[in-house]
Amino acid sequence: MVAIRGAVLERIGAPRPYARSRPLTVTELDLAPPGPGELLVRVEAAGVCHSDLSVVDGNRVRPVPMLLGHEAAGIVEAIGAGVTIAPGQRVVLTFLPRCGQCPACATEGLTPCGPGTAANGAGTLLDGGIRLRRAGQPVFHHLGVSGFATHAVVSAASAVPVPHDVPPSVAALLGCAVLTGGGAVLNVARPVAGQTVAVVGLGGVGMAAVLTVLAHDGVDVIAIDQLPEKLAAASGLGVQRTYTPQQAVDAGVRAPMVIEAVGHPAALQTAIDLTAPGGRTIAVGLPAPDARISLSPLGFVAEGRSLIGSYLGSAVPARDIPKFVALWRAGRLPVQQLVSATITLDDINEAMDRLADGAAVRQVITFGQA
Ligand SMILES: NC(=O)c1ccc[n+]([C@@H]2O[C@H](COP(=O)([O-])OP(=O)(O)OC[C@H]3O[C@@H](n4cnc5c(N)ncnc54)[C@H](O)[C@@H]3O)[C@@H](O)[C@H]2O)c1
Ligand SMILES: [Zn+2]
Ligand SMILES: [Zn+2]
Repeated sequence: MVAIRGAVLERIGAPRPYARSRPLTVTELDLAPPGPGELLVRVEAAGVCHSDLSVVDGNRVRPVPMLLGHEAAGIVEAIGAGVTIAPGQRVVLTFLPRCGQCPACATEGLTPCGPGTAANGAGTLLDGGIRLRRAGQPVFHHLGVSGFATHAVVSAASAVPVPHDVPPSVAALLGCAVLTGGGAVLNVARPVAGQTVAVVGLGGVGMAAVLTVLAHDGVDVIAIDQLPEKLAAASGLGVQRTYTPQQAVDAGVRAPMVIEAVGHPAALQTAIDLTAPGGRTIAVGLPAPDARISLSPLGFVAEGRSLIGSYLGSAVPARDIPKFVALWRAGRLPVQQLVSATITLDDINEAMDRLADGAAVRQVITFGQA
């Protein structure tokens, strides 16, 4: 057993502001040693993603108490039987372990792994186990990572080694924001020179998609968000064309690929409206399960358009994270520019408020040296 500190979500649907209702408690927990095929990781950095907030506000229903955090990186401290990643290695933790055996895994990222998805829904690691306890009672894992903690035990299928020159905060963002937003560009949009990609929603995920488009020579990007501050941030990254949703509709913007990275039906509606004839709307946001949109079937058929969902950037993490590392090392993917604030674990409830307000691109919790 290792004694760790982590941010545990005690209850779902607490009222805002979270700074007052404090749905997350930073507490001591016991972490069991890694089992076969698992790693013990000392967490160095963890990003705060809207998918964490969606568990807090109940949009994604998960069992509680749950140690949140699914976008993290750290150093391997111990390994279970059969693991080939060596202690001392820096790893990116990803939020959907791939069993590698199921029919979904055979689609090379296009369909989310079946057993991995089931384990994530149940709040367990890939093998169904729970390694976290508090005062003897189990605490659920978040998406196989539970990275808002000093240490984590994860399936080796949740970890991708990265070289030591990748800084911890960059490595953390590779695990969700970049893999999801960037993966939607590399694996689904696949733009070529002369094309345009529009991105609706400029949080960590959407902004990572924007950066990935900017890394393509000759591909134009259009950035859309309802907050002027986010449009200014996109301009700061080098985006020439930025709009609020209403401005984009009024200006008659139509793009052959539109990535929606908000998680609200109104934003998906915007993304569909902005998709050009023959084009593809790529949905990445995760709205509440009962959210609905209204579609004109005729618009899709007569204009030959399509709507595609993309989970985990339709990525195979071990295949795709090295691609993002190579772009970062070449100076073409400045992931560090997505970090809008570096915070401590004790600031987690306030961080959830800032995220809900849209006041952050990516807030990153750092843990320093052990
Ligand atoms: N598919 C996946 O695998 C995956 C992975 C990670 C996150 N997500 C989801 O992606 C979404 C984005 O995550 P994030 O962490 O970047 O969120 P975020 O909250 O940081 O960013 C969302 C952005 O959308 C903007 N926005 C809100 N309503 C809008 C509207 N109607 N039109 C245009 N812009 C609007 C906000 O101002 C904000 O900038 C969330 O739903 C999250 O759960 C999906
Ligand atoms: Zn995420
Ligand atoms: Zn699988």
